[in-house]
Amino acid sequence: MFKNFLGNKANTALTIEQRKSECMREAVPSHIAIIMDGNGRWAKKRALPRVAGHREGMKTVKKITRCASEIGVKALTVYAFSTENWKRPKDEVDFLMRLPVDFLDTFLPELIERNVRVETIGDSSVLPLHTQKALTEAMETTKHNTGLVLNFALNYGSRDEMVKAMKAIMMRVAEGELTAEQVDEDCITAHLMTAHLPEPDLLIRTSGEVRLSNFMLWQLAYTELWFTDMLWPDFNEAAFLDAVMSYQKRNRRYGGLKGEETK
Ligand code: IPE
Ligand code: IPE
Ligand code: MG
Repeated sequence: MFKNFLGNKANTALTIEQRKSECMREAVPSHIAIIMDGNGRWAKKRALPRVAGHREGMKTVKKITRCASEIGVKALTVYAFSTENWKRPKDEVDFLMRLPVDFLDTFLPELIERNVRVETIGDSSVLPLHTQKALTEAMETTKHNTGLVLNFALNYGSRDEMVKAMKAIMMRVAEGELTAEQVDEDCITAHLMTAHLPEPDLLIRTSGEVRLSNFMLWQLAYTELWFTDMLWPDFNEAAFLDAVMSYQKRNRRYGGLKGEETK
């Protein structure tokens, strides 16, 4: 029989604490990236406005940030707003731009206490000033923290990121700082917005959609993918830890062979 492609059966027998210690017995993924999807559908199911789903989703971000920092994840990137999300109604966009402000207003003290460093990727120069201000303040206040990096992808699009990287590289070539021969994979990686982060080991997408929606196309080349039907506001520590445990059982080959397979 074929295994369900989404094959993410939860191990309901384990408590959260048991799952955590299970995860920490093996190497925890250094960088986990999440496409947080399904807020609108969560609200619709309850006959609520879409923004109610976004508000509830913010609580999930807090839960998962705590959990990731407790099991020793080094970086957690959360896709909060894509370059395509500007197509949504103005009211919804305004609400989404307000969310980082509310999130940081209510959560920054705990992030500081947990030694979390806040960072962002995406073109933040066009975000409303209140959004930029909240993010800059949070980044400034937490810049010396050495624990989890909580990285918000805000007005982020992988293609936009690549265009900006190509332009920056071409400028450097034109100015004689780089030669065309020096443009290799490492050079491109170094010009992306994620240059300071390791490549994601694990990508989680909620809501049953099985696509990347312009997220980290270069960086995800060898990332392990994990999909769930759960809507983001329903997503929780148990599901997050199940994703980590599923990752830990995988055999990452990077195109080669491993251990026994080479014999
Ligand atoms: C994810 O939830 C949040 C953002 C994309 C900003 P959605 O708003 O996409 O929710 P659905 O996919 O419509 O249910
Ligand atoms: C991806 O979700 C973007 C974020 C989670 C911020 P979308 O809901 O925008 O993606 P599509 O439109 O379903 O591909
Ligand atoms: Mg969506």
